[in-house]
Amino acid sequence: MHPRCTNCHVGEGHLPGWEGLGYKPGAVHGMAVRAGESRIGAEGLPCRTCHVTSAAANTVPHAAPHIDAPWQLPPVTLAWQGATPVELCRQLRDPARTDDRDVAALADHVSTSAFVAWGFAPGAGRSAPAGSPQDLARALLAWGAAGAPCG
Ligand code: HEC
Ligand code: HEC
Repeated sequence: MHPRCTNCHVGEGHLPGWEGLGYKPGAVHGMAVRAGESRIGAEGLPCRTCHVTSAAANTVPHAAPHIDAPWQLPPVTLAWQGATPVELCRQLRDPARTDDRDVAALADHVSTSAFVAWGFAPGAGRSAPAGSPQDLARALLAWGAAGAPCG
């Protein structure tokens, strides 16, 4: 639920967020950026125009962050911005809303995804969620082993 994650996991407006970067609460991406139904940006101005694909460290505050994968929004079905913890929990155990991932596949995704790795270590002075991708994977597996309760 940290903005480093929710800024991408947004819904049908296709608007990435700029929360937690010093703008007002609920701030959407500047420069009128829309991801469109493709989720990879308007034709002619894809996200990777500014968010270049590069493994170099992110060091410049307020520059467009980059990772070693094409920058884009997740599909609308994976939106959870604004969800309560219980809603997010129920979403994560519903394969229709995880791109068919069960808990083991979710744990594998968070351990290997370039997006998740960036969210936990964004660099350039950005805040990050507590822990590491491996901590999150372990927590997911423990939750799955307990029958994936959501309270
Ligand atoms: C730059 C955008 C971006 C950021 C930032 C981002 N993600 Fe994602 N996320 C994606 C994309 C794209 C997918 C779908 C990729 C796929 O299916 O292979 C995805 C899929 C996922 C999934 C698997 C599907 C699901 O929702 O059940 C999880 C879990 C996830 N992300 C967690 C995170 C976490 C945790 C963070 C922050 C630490 C994060 N993401 C940050 C783009 C992003
Ligand atoms: C015209 C250049 C440009 C384009 C095109 C662009 N971005 Fe950005 N983006 C930026 C800049 C610059 C920042 C950093 C803003 C800051 O830190 O003040 C940013 C930040 C972000 C953030 C916030 C990261 C964080 O730290 O939480 C997300 C999410 C994001 N962009 C997603 C996208 C997506 C998805 C697309 C394509 C639909 C896209 N951007 C297209 C320039 C761009």
